[in-house]
Amino acid sequence: MLYRGAMARRAIALALLVCAGADAAPWCSTGMSQPDFAEDSDQPSIDVILVQAPLFSSDPKIGQKLRWFGMFHTALVLSQQLPGVPPQNWTLELAAVTNVIASTLPRIVDEDLIWDNDARYCVTPGILWGREHWTQSYEVVTRLTARQGRKVFADFVLPLNASGHKRRPLYQLWRVASRSDPKTDFIKDLTCGDGVSWFLKHAQLLGAPLPSDFTFKSTKVDILADRIKPVNRSSPDEWSQVVDYFRGMQQEVQPNQTFVERLETLWGRYRSGI
Ligand SMILES: *[C@@H]1O[C@H](CO)[C@@H](O)[C@H](O)[C@H]1NC(C)=O
Ligand SMILES: *[C@@H]1O[C@H](CO)[C@@H](O)[C@H](O)[C@H]1NC(C)=O
Ligand SMILES: *[C@@H]1O[C@H](CO)[C@@H](O)[C@H](O)[C@H]1NC(C)=O
Ligand SMILES: *[C@@H]1O[C@H](CO)[C@@H](O)[C@H](O)[C@H]1NC(C)=O
Repeated sequence: MLYRGAMARRAIALALLVCAGADAAPWCSTGMSQPDFAEDSDQPSIDVILVQAPLFSSDPKIGQKLRWFGMFHTALVLSQQLPGVPPQNWTLELAAVTNVIASTLPRIVDEDLIWDNDARYCVTPGILWGREHWTQSYEVVTRLTARQGRKVFADFVLPLNASGHKRRPLYQLWRVASRSDPKTDFIKDLTCGDGVSWFLKHAQLLGAPLPSDFTFKSTKVDILADRIKPVNRSSPDEWSQVVDYFRGMQQEVQPNQTFVERLETLWGRYRSGI
């Protein structure tokens, strides 16, 4: 199933940017473990807002460009509204703890591949990057009471997030799917969209309904294959092909350019048919 050639590598390199943070700020540097919801006497007070924005649109050099690819970052804003006090907001997102590139490309040490692709939740106070950032979607999908909100964190978000280093959930950018129609998944992806959909499922389990016409859409990056088979690790020849493949990818995505320059190069090549 390995993809070969510079063309495919460039397309993949561009795809690597899915769900990446908008800047180089360290992982969850202003994060908190959970929102401090105020008491609401079990009257639903927390709007659960599905937010989506074109990737990197907070970077003025990139702006809305990735909208044309249909590539979006997705998260949830939890906004608590109580009578007589201004709304309080928190942003919840699932992301790769290192960054998408580091989570998708292993380090190569002595012909060994060292992966670092933990995917974890991050809660930041306020609306991350501001309300104006979320141009694709800003939609209240359900409401929770403070008690339900705390319970989703206690029962689901925090236990999942406490998973040890290199334990699940692990970031997986690509969905490997069959070429046939309809497609079936050979290898599922795991990205920011899953974090949103898991949270909404748990909210539903606690009795918070989603709109009947609600369908959750998130960006998928497909690699199509006829079939997949495990690499034979005891075969030096097969293994060295795998390592060479990742070396080639690294050369494509880590050239001697700033992040924005790299994106612009990839963008230009993509538009001109690569
Ligand atoms: C989840 O775990 C990460 C990594 O340990 C941590 O930085 C983050 O703040 C945690 N998130 C929550 C919501 O507790
Ligand atoms: C929370 O977001 C709303 C907009 O949805 C805004 O009116 C309000 O000021 C925000 N509250 C805080 C404390 O940022
Ligand atoms: C894996 O490779 C080794 C070494 O070349 C070979 O002996 C073995 O039969 C291979 N296993 C399979 C399942 O192909
Ligand atoms: C990287 O950039 C520097 C400064 O622009 C230049 O001197 C150097 O040759 C470049 N290296 C490669 C491999 O392009």
